[in-house]
Amino acid sequence: MEGTALLLFFISAHTLLPLFLHMSSLATATATNSITINQTLSFNQTLISSNQNFKLGFFTPTNSNSNSNIWYLGIWFNKIPIRTYVWIANRDNPFHSSSSPALKLNNNGHLTLVNETNHVIWSSSSLNPSNRTHTPVFALLLDNGNLVIKSQISTNDDSNGYVWQSFDHPSDNLIDGMKLGCDLKLGLSRKLRSWKSSDDPSNGDFVYEMERRGFPGLVLRNGSTNLYRTGPWTGIQFSGTPELKKNPVFEPIFVYDKEEVYYAFRRTEAVVSMLRLDPTGSLYRVTWNDRRLQWVVMISVLKDQCNKYGLCGAHGVCNVDDPVPCKCLKGFVPNAPQNWSRVDWSGGCRRRTSLDCGKGDGFVKFSSLKVPDSTFAWVNMSMGLGECRMKCLKNCSCTAFANADVRDSGSGCVLWFGDLIDLREFTAGGGQDLYVRMAASELEAQQGGSNKKKKRAVVVASVSVVTGILLVASIVWCFILSTRRRQRGEGSINQDRDSTRELELPLFDFVTVATATNNFSNNKVVGEGGFGPVYKGILPNGQEIAVKRLSENSGQGLREFKNEIILISKLQHRNLVKVLGCCIQREEMMLVYEYMPNKSLDNFIFDKERSQLLCWEKRFDIIIGIAQGLLYLHRDSRLRIIHRDLKAANILLDREMNPKISDFGLAKTFGGDETQANTRRVVGTYGYMSPEYAADGLFSMKSDVFSFGVLTLEIVSGKRNKGFYLAGHDFNLLGHAWNLWNEDRALELVDEVFTVDVSSRSAVLRCIQVGLLCVQQRLDDRPTMPSVVMMLGSESANLPQPKQPGFYYERSSTDEGPSSSDKFSYGKNLSFTQLEGR
Ligand SMILES: *[C@@H]1O[C@H](CO)[C@@H](O)[C@H](O)[C@H]1NC(C)=O
Ligand SMILES: *[C@@H]1O[C@H](CO)[C@@H](O)[C@H](O)[C@H]1NC(C)=O
Ligand SMILES: *[C@@H]1O[C@H](CO)[C@@H](O)[C@H](O)[C@H]1NC(C)=O
Ligand SMILES: *[C@@H]1O[C@H](CO)[C@@H](O)[C@H](O)[C@H]1NC(C)=O
Ligand SMILES: *[C@@H]1O[C@H](CO)[C@@H](O)[C@H](O)[C@H]1NC(C)=O
Ligand SMILES: *[C@@H]1O[C@H](CO)[C@@H](O)[C@H](O)[C@H]1NC(C)=O
Ligand SMILES: *[C@@H]1O[C@H](CO)[C@@H](O)[C@H](O)[C@H]1NC(C)=O
Ligand SMILES: *[C@@H]1O[C@H](CO)[C@@H](O)[C@H](O)[C@H]1NC(C)=O
Repeated sequence: MEGTALLLFFISAHTLLPLFLHMSSLATATATNSITINQTLSFNQTLISSNQNFKLGFFTPTNSNSNSNIWYLGIWFNKIPIRTYVWIANRDNPFHSSSSPALKLNNNGHLTLVNETNHVIWSSSSLNPSNRTHTPVFALLLDNGNLVIKSQISTNDDSNGYVWQSFDHPSDNLIDGMKLGCDLKLGLSRKLRSWKSSDDPSNGDFVYEMERRGFPGLVLRNGSTNLYRTGPWTGIQFSGTPELKKNPVFEPIFVYDKEEVYYAFRRTEAVVSMLRLDPTGSLYRVTWNDRRLQWVVMISVLKDQCNKYGLCGAHGVCNVDDPVPCKCLKGFVPNAPQNWSRVDWSGGCRRRTSLDCGKGDGFVKFSSLKVPDSTFAWVNMSMGLGECRMKCLKNCSCTAFANADVRDSGSGCVLWFGDLIDLREFTAGGGQDLYVRMAASELEAQQGGSNKKKKRAVVVASVSVVTGILLVASIVWCFILSTRRRQRGEGSINQDRDSTRELELPLFDFVTVATATNNFSNNKVVGEGGFGPVYKGILPNGQEIAVKRLSENSGQGLREFKNEIILISKLQHRNLVKVLGCCIQREEMMLVYEYMPNKSLDNFIFDKERSQLLCWEKRFDIIIGIAQGLLYLHRDSRLRIIHRDLKAANILLDREMNPKISDFGLAKTFGGDETQANTRRVVGTYGYMSPEYAADGLFSMKSDVFSFGVLTLEIVSGKRNKGFYLAGHDFNLLGHAWNLWNEDRALELVDEVFTVDVSSRSAVLRCIQVGLLCVQQRLDDRPTMPSVVMMLGSESANLPQPKQPGFYYERSSTDEGPSSSDKFSYGKNLSFTQLEGR
């Protein structure tokens, strides 16, 4: 069920536009903006507002292929050549053109749409009861697009004297001057309702309306199911939409008093601007500017999964900037941890310590939040925060409180009772403070937090000390080994105090390296490693080298650099980059590698031109080569090694385009039977990380297998997993590949630059299948590297069917407005570090 709902979101609204071009419009007999009592507007006539901005008339929205005999009466922008409708009278009751319909303002003041035999198709029946006494005189299409029935001829446009107005009956959009919300005095609720499809204006599933119970805010619903809510108004913007505040072109308006609760906006520049709920349930801002009609996604549940109502369950907090969106509020633990590791957070969280009202609870402040669902919250706009806290404390079922208005130093009071649902955290600021009730003992535990932090620091420190000791020990061990060897070989050694020297690596002289790289000249820089620049150099004998230099004051770098030195000196395989030696000069540390003229794989597969150089056979060789390099690391090397940062940028290509795995800065060795470990420090690259590693810091060879699967699919498709975008849906590459696989269309995944012929078909499919097997959600389902190599190499192997991949969809920011352009994307190759305890 969820699946179909998701799919519907994927249909992009952009597909709508071309349809508008097919609309038919009929010649205008007379350009007038009103009709009077007993006058009719016939099928071939239109009304045009006096400023020419809006037009009312008959139209058919279907494109020429389908039945174009279905007609509606509506209002559209007159100056936009791409037909964009503002209002439709008879959405659910279209008529046939043969019935010669006409719009008539009849004697009792109703606008009615009748057919030839005077049957009423539509009528403005809902006359404002309080204004029945006024005698309606004429209907007028105003300059703001509002069709009104006026009771007296007057030139001023204030709503006094409107017997009826189309703005009270919105279609699927909100334009300047309209109000989205409730008029409590008239018992009127103005809501947006989506079209059924891009060429069918009848009522669709989605409704965007004001939830005026509790502390009001806008809610997107399908029937009674909440899909998204903006959160309540904070005085500046909605709690859940910090990006939609007043700006140079747009000013939001929110009114909440005894008579009315509504949202509206004012455009402050002379552009047409409309908020539109499209048939897929996404909210767009549609603007007309510089002869271009732009659709910018404002709110889409799948563009931003944290928008999905209650994604993280009760007391769960969603943050799109985290690798795993959901976590529990501090002081809470998952209700069903096993479900959380399956990426199902809906079970939510429960208190670690249950409340005990009698023993005096307290509150913990959380910042930058979208406050929880406030449908059943209690509000008082004049109470201060202190009074608010007391009020909450006094009622044992009150679970949280906050200011109702965050302006100045904050005012007003909102109280929540029961579970806190649909919380969201904004890393970049925005949102507001929320005070959550906690048991006294929990508070104590958290206040002891600083002590605890110290304790944790001690633990971390001792862990580092142990690591340090191990490091020193292994260096000393290397020292002894190499000393013995040298003593045997050379008879004497030069005692150098720098322990790093004692590795099984040839030493390069600093002057040699400096000369080779033109004294580390900037124009010799060929790349940027995890811990400093990489230079290209030429040794006196003509051999090309790459020099990786540890930049000064790189604390993190030093650790990774040593790690790499220790590991790589012990590894040798044709699919691992070969280290020629190292160079140590006082504080300077450098590693010297064979030079890879073709740089890294990402330079090829993701580049429009260079990708053409990689035919399928070459790609297949590269996949096999990487698999063999990884197999060596996992099984055959002296140390058993998990790379932890396998990605296209870390696969180097030699002159013959043979792949070489590089960058062992994050790699870990494993003892004999150990197959899995846990780390507090999650490092790696987003897009390649397995779910269990990103979520729980659990790493194993299977996390490398996951990254290998991502890499395989990237090589086949020529697309990056992170930042993957395909018009019409929000799956990442893994999700897209999986969908195609299930629909038996896997070959469509293949990079357009090469064609799949009969001879390569089965190898391509096998690579995709192995790739999908490697990225499966469950670690136990993923194959080991030995079986990956076996499956890739064997034509006859019977491969299992892949199950659902981990992390198969994510937000993309590709087609969002300029204001939010790159806010959510991680840098191209940016690795990130997540510390435990966030
Ligand atoms: C809306 O809800 C109905 C009933 O639950 C469901 O059948 C329909 O698929 C939903 N529509 C969308 C677009 O999610
Ligand atoms: C509009 O339609 C009416 C009746 O259907 C017809 O009498 C009239 O001539 C038409 N006007 C134009 C301009 O086509
Ligand atoms: C409208 O028509 C009705 C019936 O034909 C007539 O009684 C009434 O006076 C007319 N009203 C106006 C304002 O012309
Ligand atoms: C007008 O509408 C009625 C009711 O829907 C229908 O029975 C009648 O045939 C229509 N007349 C024409 C000319 O289409
Ligand atoms: C109805 O008429 C009253 C009195 O003329 C006016 O104050 C009010 O604004 C009108 N209401 C509407 C919705 O037009
Ligand atoms: C965990 O998932 C299972 C299976 O989907 C479900 O039956 C159960 O209710 C979930 N538990 C919670 C607390 O959500
Ligand atoms: C709101 O708070 C103010 C200040 O404490 C108080 O005077 C007023 O009665 C409260 N209103 C309601 C409805 O509780
Ligand atoms: C606590 O608040 C709830 C919800 O407003 C209310 O129903 C209940 O009566 C209150 N209890 C006390 C003791 O005030």
